Amino acid sequence: MEVPFLGLSLSLVLLATGWGNGAGAAWASSPGGCRLVQSTATCNGRWLNSVPRNLQDELEELLLDNNTIRVLENASVLPYQKLRYLSLSKNRLELIEPGAFLGSQGLHVLSLADNLLFTNYSVTAAAFSALPALRKLDLAGNCLSEDMVSVLLWNLSSLESLSVARNLIMRLDSSTFTNLTQLLELNLEKNYIFEIDQAFEGLQKLQRLNMAYNYIPCIAEFDLTQLRVLNISNNAIEWFLAVESNDLFELEVLDLSHNHLLFFPVLPRHNKLRSLLLKDNKLSFYQRLANATSLANATVQFLLTYGNSTNITTVSLWDEICHSNLSSLQLLDMSQNRIWYLPEGFLVKMPSLTHLKLNQNCMEMFHVPKRNPLAMLTDLDLSQNRLSELRVDLPAGAVPNLQLFNLSTNRLTVLPVGFFTHTKKITTVDLSHNRVDLCPLQAVLGKGENLPCVDIRGITTLTHVSLAGCGLQGLGSHPFQGTPLKHLDLSDNQEVLSGGLGWLQDLNLTLQVLSLRNTNLSSTVVDIDFSGFQSLICLDLSGNSLITFPAALGILKLHTLDLRDNCLPALPQDVIWTPLGKSLREVYLSRNPYNCCLLGWWDSLQRVEGLHVRDGQEVTCRYDSKTVSARAMPENIIKDCQWRTADLVLLYLALALPTCLTFLVVFVIIFLTFKQKLLKMVKSQCGLSSPY
Ligand SMILES: *[C@@H]1O[C@H](CO)[C@@H](O)[C@H](O)[C@H]1NC(C)=O
Ligand SMILES: *[C@@H]1O[C@H](CO)[C@@H](O)[C@H](O)[C@H]1NC(C)=O
Ligand SMILES: *[C@@H]1O[C@H](CO)[C@@H](O)[C@H](O)[C@H]1NC(C)=O
Ligand SMILES: *[C@@H]1O[C@H](CO)[C@@H](O)[C@H](O)[C@H]1NC(C)=O
Ligand SMILES: *[C@@H]1O[C@H](CO)[C@@H](O)[C@H](O)[C@H]1NC(C)=O
Ligand SMILES: *[C@@H]1O[C@H](CO)[C@@H](O)[C@H](O)[C@H]1NC(C)=O
Ligand SMILES: *[C@@H]1O[C@H](CO)[C@@H](O)[C@H](O)[C@H]1NC(C)=O
Ligand SMILES: *[C@@H]1O[C@H](CO)[C@@H](O)[C@H](O)[C@H]1NC(C)=O
Ligand SMILES: *[C@@H]1O[C@H](CO)[C@@H](O)[C@H](O)[C@H]1NC(C)=O
Ligand SMILES: *[C@@H]1O[C@H](CO)[C@@H](O)[C@H](O)[C@H]1NC(C)=O
Ligand SMILES: *[C@@H]1O[C@H](CO)[C@@H](O)[C@H](O)[C@H]1NC(C)=O
Ligand SMILES: *[C@@H]1O[C@H](CO)[C@@H](O)[C@H](O)[C@H]1NC(C)=O
Repeated sequence: MEVPFLGLSLSLVLLATGWGNGAGAAWASSPGGCRLVQSTATCNGRWLNSVPRNLQDELEELLLDNNTIRVLENASVLPYQKLRYLSLSKNRLELIEPGAFLGSQGLHVLSLADNLLFTNYSVTAAAFSALPALRKLDLAGNCLSEDMVSVLLWNLSSLESLSVARNLIMRLDSSTFTNLTQLLELNLEKNYIFEIDQAFEGLQKLQRLNMAYNYIPCIAEFDLTQLRVLNISNNAIEWFLAVESNDLFELEVLDLSHNHLLFFPVLPRHNKLRSLLLKDNKLSFYQRLANATSLANATVQFLLTYGNSTNITTVSLWDEICHSNLSSLQLLDMSQNRIWYLPEGFLVKMPSLTHLKLNQNCMEMFHVPKRNPLAMLTDLDLSQNRLSELRVDLPAGAVPNLQLFNLSTNRLTVLPVGFFTHTKKITTVDLSHNRVDLCPLQAVLGKGENLPCVDIRGITTLTHVSLAGCGLQGLGSHPFQGTPLKHLDLSDNQEVLSGGLGWLQDLNLTLQVLSLRNTNLSSTVVDIDFSGFQSLICLDLSGNSLITFPAALGILKLHTLDLRDNCLPALPQDVIWTPLGKSLREVYLSRNPYNCCLLGWWDSLQRVEGLHVRDGQEVTCRYDSKTVSARAMPENIIKDCQWRTADLVLLYLALALPTCLTFLVVFVIIFLTFKQKLLKMVKSQCGLSSPY
């Protein structure tokens, strides 16, 4: 009886440890529940409260994340002399005993994130002293104060990468990171830092510094020349001031987004800045006031207080921006600020700019000057401003490499004439929520083209256009001639379809995605005929007043169809057998007054494999004055509907019966009345011809 039982339990163990899945990979399991692949042991999430001892000696990587280890005892990792990588994040580590790493001189990477190392940090610090080769240490999420950090790092002079993110650090000074002369990367994200006093002086090699999500109020005399990436986003910075010097700063990326900056930062004069991120601040320029007073010589005085002495730094605002060399800047993000104009010559300083984001400001005019500062620009976002004018000095001020142009939500009625003849790479233009019309205007056809309109004809690279909410009306006959649009958004234009859809014919071969949401489309519009649009794969007809399903849709091979918010009582029962039914992958159907008793189409639609009714939960139908969910129709309504259909048959029968009876009676009477005559007629006829 012993043998079968053993066999059973063995196979159970094999199944539980994953042998049963037949992958046949080169890993084996060990009693600790660890997975061994070559020289890596993965023991994550195994409820372990100590380091497994009997793993292979040659181990180089040991992963023990998400366990319940509380103390890393002396000689815990002694068996693994070749260990280079040890991860103990998400445990309950309070203490690392001083001898824990004896024999682990080769350890390069140690991750201790999300533990409780604040509990006995001084003992743990002694354990760290035995790690002469440690290069990367993660102490994030350990409730450490700056003093604890300072003690823990005292003897880790070999560190190249350190994270103390998500701790309780409030102040940084020269004692915090004393010995970290090799440090390249430092993460201080999500602490409570509000004061920094010469904390980075000794970090001669530091290249990447992340201080996002702290409470830093300002940066004065920034002088870390060797730093490449500085992230101080999500703080409370009101001004950023680099030290006045002619040294070359290595700074490439400066992230100051989500702060309280009032002025454009005073950047190092000589830098290698590629990305300058200033999103979501209170930035404006002050050279000009709204009443045209010139403030060209305006200065700002910064009072810097050190102990009991105060130094005053006077900065001439616009001069300082002019003095810094921004010739390598590629990405400038100044979105979500209070900019209402750009100083003259501002863009001229940035000849390498490829991405410029000025969305969500309050600019009324955007001017591309003659000196062609935007020759490299590919992506220009001016959406959500108050632009009523876009001034471009063509041809010198052309933007020849522009690909994405976002002008959404402004007050534009025109674009500079000929703008697109100089943008040979343009693919996407968003003009939504402006007051534009497309040339040619139907009303003035032939009467010269002086009336304001935007001409997007003949732009052979343009594939995406949004004209949503532009108040379009009276479109001329060929507004898209020669432009191979694939995506066109015409939603929220109440009048755009008043003359039918004929003017879309120029796009019949290219158009793939078309939105006609909220365009007053009704079943009476004469030519709802999309049959020519053979490439169409996505069609949005929501928010209209369709009362019948446009039959012409049946032959399209759409992937996505949106019919929400119409007046459809039902869909055709046979729609799933059409080419449309076979190609559809995604459909939106809610907010239509479907008839609960005519839901045969709904049942068959649900059964189509690979078709998702994305808003299936919200599809409702009407029964009497009630609105019920089509997916969970109450049993009594289903029965009522069956009764109603049965009743109708009876009703028709009942109605038909008297009529039939009347006809029968009449027929009989007629027959009887004429019976004699008929017989006679027959007889006489037969008699005449009968020889006997
Ligand atoms: C931690 O391990 C437990 C037990 O294996 C598991 O249920 C849990 O999802 C894991 N948590 C994480 C964050 O991996
Ligand atoms: C751990 O080792 C250190 C020295 O290596 C020793 O001072 C200490 O007493 C040991 N702790 C325990 C609990 O054995
Ligand atoms: C810290 O460690 C020391 C020595 O191991 C021990 O005496 C002390 O109780 C520990 N303190 C805490 C708070 O765990
Ligand atoms: C640093 O190491 C030295 C000797 O290597 C030792 O005396 C000192 O206590 C260590 N400091 C800390 C904070 O562990
Ligand atoms: C760390 O810095 C302190 C003070 O600056 C110094 O006394 C100590 O020797 C340094 N330790 C190492 C390991 O460099
Ligand atoms: C700066 O840090 C924040 C928070 O971690 C992050 O979202 C952002 O992408 C970082 N910025 C850069 C330029 O990497
Ligand atoms: C312009 O406006 C500023 C502040 O709004 C005001 O101090 C100044 O007197 C005004 N100048 C003129 C000429 O109106
Ligand atoms: C600005 O200052 C310069 C001299 O410092 C002076 O010549 C110029 O007129 C000033 N401009 C204005 C607008 O005050
Ligand atoms: C101000 O600082 C100086 C040295 O810089 C010192 O002699 C003086 O006592 C300080 N005064 C006060 C009031 O702290
Ligand atoms: C204040 O400014 C003076 C002269 O510009 C300079 O010598 C001194 O070092 C500055 N003081 C501080 C604390 O920066
Ligand atoms: C700006 O820096 C570039 C190199 O990055 C250099 O070629 C150019 O001459 C500098 N311009 C000025 C005005 O210093
Ligand atoms: C597309 O429209 C043009 C006229 O604009 C017409 O000549 C052509 O036959 C149409 N193609 C298809 C596939 O309907």
